Amino acid sequence: MTPPAGHTVLWHSLFTMTSPSSHTDILAPSPGTLLNIVTQFAADLGTMTDLTTIGNRIIKELCEAGGTTHGALFLLDREHECYRRASMVGPVAPALVPPTLAMDHPLPRHLLATNRIMTQGNAPADLQDTDSEVGARAAMESMQALRIVPHINKGRLIAFSLLGAAQPIPEENSPTRFLLAALAQTATNALDTIVLYEDLHRSHLLMKRTDRLKSLETIAGGFAHEIRNPLTSIKTFIQLAPERKDDPQFIQEFSKVVLDDVYRIERLIQEILDYARYMEPKLTEEDFNDIVASCLYFIDVKADSHGIKIEKELASDLPRVMLDRQQIKQVLLNLFLNAMDSMARAGGRLRVRTYKLVKPGGSIWVNIEIEDTGEGIQETNIEHIFDPFFTTKHESGEHEGTGLGLTIVHQIIQEHHGEIRVKSSIGVGTTFFVSLPALPA
Ligand SMILES: Nc1ncnc2c1ncn2[C@@H]1O[C@H](COP(=O)(O)OP(=O)(O)OP(=O)(O)O)[C@@H](O)[C@H]1O
Ligand SMILES: [Mg+2]
Repeated sequence: MTPPAGHTVLWHSLFTMTSPSSHTDILAPSPGTLLNIVTQFAADLGTMTDLTTIGNRIIKELCEAGGTTHGALFLLDREHECYRRASMVGPVAPALVPPTLAMDHPLPRHLLATNRIMTQGNAPADLQDTDSEVGARAAMESMQALRIVPHINKGRLIAFSLLGAAQPIPEENSPTRFLLAALAQTATNALDTIVLYEDLHRSHLLMKRTDRLKSLETIAGGFAHEIRNPLTSIKTFIQLAPERKDDPQFIQEFSKVVLDDVYRIERLIQEILDYARYMEPKLTEEDFNDIVASCLYFIDVKADSHGIKIEKELASDLPRVMLDRQQIKQVLLNLFLNAMDSMARAGGRLRVRTYKLVKPGGSIWVNIEIEDTGEGIQETNIEHIFDPFFTTKHESGEHEGTGLGLTIVHQIIQEHHGEIRVKSSIGVGTTFFVSLPALPA
């Protein structure tokens, strides 16, 4: 939806007809107009989900209401204790507007202390001559701002809008101030919601990353085992090279083997780095069996040492899938590690089967079944296993669980538009079923 065009003009013409000193007179002509502008603004912000769009809309609306033409929105970055320039609209001179402003800079301090819109012209009347006031005015001047609107929520300055214009702005009358304040408050509410939402999103990412780093321990075990062979061959070559340096056949053949081994180690290191590093989800067309095999490979050593036999049955006719390779690895590793934990005490069998499934509607899915012969899940616990922090692995067990593994598995599968189910019986074992939509042939 677009904002009502030219509402400032209408607003000003309505109010210049009335006496600015009479509050009743000022509001009398158009409470409806005011309400419309603010309601429309609130409704528009409600449909927006990303910070830049919201920031741009806020600056535009505040400019239109107060006769300025351009500006920037600064948003609180709690982590780095500063205000960060989040969006700029119109002909702002970026050199004048810094990308960040420290939280204890006089400008934000002054805005928070007064909770008032600062306007270039009203300095003398407002001047309290405090340090922060003087500093704030100086900053305002150096940034060529004509107006600064604070956005304060629950006693916290969550953002401020810096507004400017090439021409002097019209002197502020009460209705303009009133409108600006109403719009500022609406903007504050929207910003607060989006910041909360982004915080939540960040915690999710952090959770995923923590979980991923946890399974790195297992991967590192597999890695150490895996590079032993190539390292041995490299070492042998180096030891033999001095005495066989004149044997061209030896040098030629062995250096090829050694080079392949070095490439193999490089590939493994890259896989581990990709896995550990957080990256934005990246969907690529993948061979699902290939990912399953690479995860099984990493848990092989651990399984062996716990007397767990791995059986794999990977379908040869599996269609390709669009997925985030590292995230799906995280899913599989979590499921494999849970299965192994359940068999850690008595050993057992981990059976991993992939197959293609055509659903009644004709859609094609790639499925994986992960079946263990472990201790099983209590019936009363089944409905909680995907809950954050639900764990039965307390310190007494092999390791202390965080209870985040399956929460993350569930989240990743959902993001891939897949499904996950579980079947378990005590003393017999547990099977997890995961389905992912396949790419059309
Ligand atoms: N294959 C399984 N066999 C038996 N119980 C399981 C299995 N998979 C999950 N569970 C149960 O579900 C709970 C939650 O699993 P989840 O992976 O979320 O956390 P966790 O394994 O306890 O902790 P973490 O993953 O941090 O090590 C486990 O504590 C366990 O009780
Ligand atoms: Mg787990």
